[in-house]
Amino acid sequence: MWEQVQETVSFIQSKFSFTPEYGVILGSGLGSFTDDIQIEYSLPYSEIPNFPISTVQGHKGALVFGTIGSKKVVAMQGRFHYYEGYDMKQVTFPVRVMKILGVTKLVVSNASGGVNPSYKIGSIVLIKDHINMMPEHPLRGKNDERFGPRFVNMSEPYSKSMLQKAKEIAASSQIDVKEGVYMALQGPTFETLSEYRMVKNIGADCVGMSTVPEVIVARHMNMEVFGLSVVTDMGDEENIEEVNHAEVLKAAEKAEPSVRKLIKELIIQY
Ligand code: HPA
Repeated sequence: MWEQVQETVSFIQSKFSFTPEYGVILGSGLGSFTDDIQIEYSLPYSEIPNFPISTVQGHKGALVFGTIGSKKVVAMQGRFHYYEGYDMKQVTFPVRVMKILGVTKLVVSNASGGVNPSYKIGSIVLIKDHINMMPEHPLRGKNDERFGPRFVNMSEPYSKSMLQKAKEIAASSQIDVKEGVYMALQGPTFETLSEYRMVKNIGADCVGMSTVPEVIVARHMNMEVFGLSVVTDMGDEENIEEVNHAEVLKAAEKAEPSVRKLIKELIIQY
């Protein structure tokens, strides 16, 4: 894995010299955030050695390099999901590449189903913690100390100071945000009513099929993480809504201007 990451980083650095400080991973329906980046380079995943290829509709599939204000950023336009058939090492490979390219702060976004009754479709949830219910762990296997330690502390997976900054930005921009716990399930089915109830009873506020693997690997490499989730459907029994992928994309796109503003300002100000 170390050699593969080095090969990918060498390839990217042979194309251009650019040291990003921020990594950004964009969720379903949230990809137009790249319009906020002054793009300097864009590399389709298909051209990057060792990169998997994204298969889901609504995920574009390019690594974009550029600036937001004075900050240098690399953004994944489209991420890799476990349910697509990749293993967790593949899903999280780009995060390893980002780190070796120089990234110290990771911003992740996703779409999720809300089970907290105070949420509604379109709610923006700042992720304060997660519950990992994925069936495979990205750090399983022999540990390579060059990436990070065998046993990773997870007491603060999401940076409290980034979260605080995001709350301040939301307040001053009149963007309504919630805070919550995100649970990751493997998908690709949406949850049954009983599964949504389980998610809620276990202590999560929303549920999705991504993010947690990338965050674990980012913490393995000691990156600072900020996560945000857009509630695209409700799994709460009181206000359950029927969910499909088109609805998810529609709801995410509606919340997108606020999400873009939040992430952009966070990167500029933090
Ligand atoms: N469940 C899981 N993943 C999701 C959902 C959901 O309800 N909505 C968007 N992604």
